[in-house]
Amino acid sequence: MRKFALLFLAWTLVSVASAQTGSPVVGGVWSGNVTPTSVTVAARMVTAGMRVRLLVSTNPSLAQPVYSSTVTSSGGNGVKFTVQGLQPDTDYHYGLEVGGVIRTDENTRGRFTTFPLGRGSFKIAFASCGDYRHGGQHVYDAIRAEQPLLFINLGDMHYSDTNSTEPEDYRANYDQVLGHRNQGALYRAVPVAYMWDDHDYAGNDSDSTALGRDTARSVYRERVPHYPIASAGGAIAQAFTVGRVRVIMTDLRSASSPVTQRESPSKSRMGSAQKAWFKQELISARDAGYPLVLWVNPDPWIAPAQVGSDTWGGHATERVEIANFIRDNRIANVVLLSGDMHGLAVDNGTNSDYATGGGAPLTVLHGAALTAEPSTKGGPYSGGVLPGRGQYGILEVYDNGGPSVACRFLGMRVGEGAKLTHIFSSSAQSSKEPALVNISTLARVSGADDAVVTGFVISSASARQVLIRAIGPTLAAFGIADAMKRPELAVFNGETLVAANSAWAGDANAEILLTSAFDRAGAFRLIESSSRDAALLLNLSQGAYTVRVKSADGTPGATLLEVYDLP
Ligand SMILES: [Fe+2]
Repeated sequence: MRKFALLFLAWTLVSVASAQTGSPVVGGVWSGNVTPTSVTVAARMVTAGMRVRLLVSTNPSLAQPVYSSTVTSSGGNGVKFTVQGLQPDTDYHYGLEVGGVIRTDENTRGRFTTFPLGRGSFKIAFASCGDYRHGGQHVYDAIRAEQPLLFINLGDMHYSDTNSTEPEDYRANYDQVLGHRNQGALYRAVPVAYMWDDHDYAGNDSDSTALGRDTARSVYRERVPHYPIASAGGAIAQAFTVGRVRVIMTDLRSASSPVTQRESPSKSRMGSAQKAWFKQELISARDAGYPLVLWVNPDPWIAPAQVGSDTWGGHATERVEIANFIRDNRIANVVLLSGDMHGLAVDNGTNSDYATGGGAPLTVLHGAALTAEPSTKGGPYSGGVLPGRGQYGILEVYDNGGPSVACRFLGMRVGEGAKLTHIFSSSAQSSKEPALVNISTLARVSGADDAVVTGFVISSASARQVLIRAIGPTLAAFGIADAMKRPELAVFNGETLVAANSAWAGDANAEILLTSAFDRAGAFRLIESSSRDAALLLNLSQGAYTVRVKSADGTPGATLLEVYDLP
């Protein structure tokens, strides 16, 4: 007992000493609200009355910085700075000047890259469910090593389960997260877009009735570098743009009716104000022509309807309402990023369509758990589900400037690489037209004697214009190492060869014709005119057709086979 008391005294002395001479920041700095030309940085100072300003520079030494205005730490000692006038698509470093002295403490320094202005390819990371009290914190180092443009934290950033009207209780949670060695280092290196779930809002399965609701909301606004929040004082929903991708983040906790309530049209996971905003955001994104809309939807969308289920299955009436809205307004390019379930999962729309009579097959991507114990929730998921920890999602967006973007989702596990992969293209055009992609399949052939074969039927009496592609070398841009080097595409009507191709842009004419067909179809553009990808634009009359892809040089590899019925 005495030994313990002595140790405790020694620890107290050390911590007092470090408060006097150490960093002026509690936890660490973090950045967010990044746009092509601006950033917001937040920090918590050790005392009130400190005069602080932010320096942002392209140089790690912070030479020739852009300065924010000076802020004095006050209630909660939080400070927040926004700097404008930056250059798009540029790496920046930042730091704090406190009382006229530029600090060099590690936890006062960070970096970020401004977003591309318009067209641009990039990588984002997303994940949920990290408990700083658990082991296996190297997942945060792994995400940092990916150097994503943005890290979307989908909630359960911690498991403190705070439910209180005391702001200091909520502030302490942010201090813990930002002060954690691995996690804090990630937030200093990569800007964040953060949406809470239950454990980091007000406790397990918490909702709008939680005692701590208003305090959680207000400390979020104080401590998090967030995008503009739609509602003053209300739910913390936000929307922003990265390149040509619109991101809409919904708060499914602080305005939610209890899941135990019986189903009715007024039972809501978003609350009526947030839902009206969400619908308007979807319409605006459609009208602005964004090729991809990411809905940061922290909780499982796919789950059986059941009162009491802490998923969208517990708000099944509202789920149908949202699905019908998406279908009726022809918003076909919404992809869900989800967490809560402690696993990786992909659904390509097979199980996610809750519109009455169908018509809203949404792509659903789950990226979790950071460090929490593995579990499954909801489903089924067409592309599989992998419960586990040390896991996160990567979404790569390839934008060559056409009407669509190509995307690759990687469900990552530390030390094991990509455990789940899903490649898809997303187009604004499909918002205004019926679904155009009839067939899109990624398959491998093992050698000269192997082939990928698929079929389709033209049922209309009049001829249809059809675009058929066998993507090989361009897949390398998605990081597919064994992309087929020379896919050979052949189309048959019965036994009769209709057309064949093994290098899509044989001449300038073919290149112009096909590129315009890619754009009309909403298909991603091919990276080089000299690439050995295959593509055919055909006028086909009524009948059954077979498409065959072989490896022209006999080497094994993967090919993406696509068939589009052109409008
Ligand atoms: Fe969780």
